[in-house]
Amino acid sequence: MNNLTPFSFGVKKAERNELNGHASFAIWFTGLSGSGKSTLSNALERSLFDKGMRTYLLDGDNIRAGINKDLKFTANDREENLRRIAEITKLFVDSGTIVLSAFITPYKKSRSLIKKIVTPQNYIEVYVSTSLEECERRDCKGLYKKARKGEIKNFTGISDPYEAPENPDIIIDTEKETIEESIKRILNFVQNKLEAK
Ligand code: PPS
Repeated sequence: MNNLTPFSFGVKKAERNELNGHASFAIWFTGLSGSGKSTLSNALERSLFDKGMRTYLLDGDNIRAGINKDLKFTANDREENLRRIAEITKLFVDSGTIVLSAFITPYKKSRSLIKKIVTPQNYIEVYVSTSLEECERRDCKGLYKKARKGEIKNFTGISDPYEAPENPDIIIDTEKETIEESIKRILNFVQNKLEAK
């Protein structure tokens, strides 16, 4: 027993959704460093926001510079990083916001836990499937070069695993389609979800 008794608040998610004029849920981007998660989630947020929706974007480097700055890149720390972000995402969804969460999310185990915390009906998984070769070729932040030289430990794809999602809702291949085409496909999926709710 932890002596905690959750309080049942009077204002419900359904009422917030009604006030906002749309449902709220999470769109979770997973993929290697440099795969395009931030670019895609940023462009998608702009599209949804411009349509008048309440949105918020949570992104790896930003969260790790603040609330999760005590965590590193060991398997345990990544799991804790993602568990906390899932809990934050859940709160934002409950507040009536469409949350875009962009994190490498490399382990199958973490993705299952996130889906459980956020709840399956409020979770859309977007796998940004850009290959390791292409991410390394782009090397936007110069991190792959450092990881190959052994200057960064536990680097995803090089010295730490990325377990590709087996059943994502959407797969985005940034080597085959433009950002505009990808955003259009995600928007279609989101639109169907909004209409179904
Ligand atoms: S995780 O695995 O989901 O907990 O990672 P995340 O919170 O998304 O953080 C990824 C960003 O951290 C930088 N970085 C690293 N990535 C992978 N492995 C190692 N060892 C590492 N060290 C630092 C990197 O900038 C990642 O950002 P993105 O946007 O993915 O490139």
